[in-house]
Amino acid sequence: MSQPKAANILWHQGHITKREREERLKQRGVIIWFTGLSGSGKSTVAAEVERRLFERGNLAYVLDGDNLRHGLNKDLGFSPEDRKENIRRVGEVAKLFADAGLIVLTAFISPYRTDRDQARALVGPGEFIEVYVKCSLEKCEERDVKGLYRRARAGEIGDFTGISAPYEEPVNPEIVLNTEAEDVETSVNRVLEYLEAKGIVK
Ligand code: ADX
Repeated sequence: MSQPKAANILWHQGHITKREREERLKQRGVIIWFTGLSGSGKSTVAAEVERRLFERGNLAYVLDGDNLRHGLNKDLGFSPEDRKENIRRVGEVAKLFADAGLIVLTAFISPYRTDRDQARALVGPGEFIEVYVKCSLEKCEERDVKGLYRRARAGEIGDFTGISAPYEEPVNPEIVLNTEAEDVETSVNRVLEYLEAKGIVK
């Protein structure tokens, strides 16, 4: 649904621009969109990037799948339709945070290419950085930090990404992190180097 359900709503323009907020914060407001299988390392890397940015005087904020599903998205499950709505809401929230001047880090499986592309389309060129957190299903399953893969294999959890639901790999992500081969520190540094190279942070 691209048109609002409500009629008679008008856009109210604020008095401060995104650019003015970015100048105050000395950074660009962007979305860093981590995508990958459960257990691939999205949340771990995102949280560490947030901390490192904070330490150097930047302001970043993590939106995490498991966390948002406790609040904003508590009415959603894991059917394709619910995941689509999950990602749609996250995209809109991330867009608002980026407009506020923050570096937003989203950590959601976001398994469908079209849903990620729709989130990308919400912001301007260069403002959506797709990070493919690449890790084989075998490795994620071996880690099984939350014990969910075991339960999915046992048939206790349906629609489980990689087991009984699809994951569509990004076609042209800005960054690929191979978390099977590189450690967290290396992945984090690669994201930070990208942000510096693009002038998003100084
Ligand atoms: S998404 O597909 O809609 O992007 P999201 O990132 O919000 O997923 O939530 C994924 C997390 O929910 C996983 O890391 C895992 O902890 C938990 N989870 C519970 N059930 C499932 C399931 N069926 N498929 C994938 N993840 C699940």
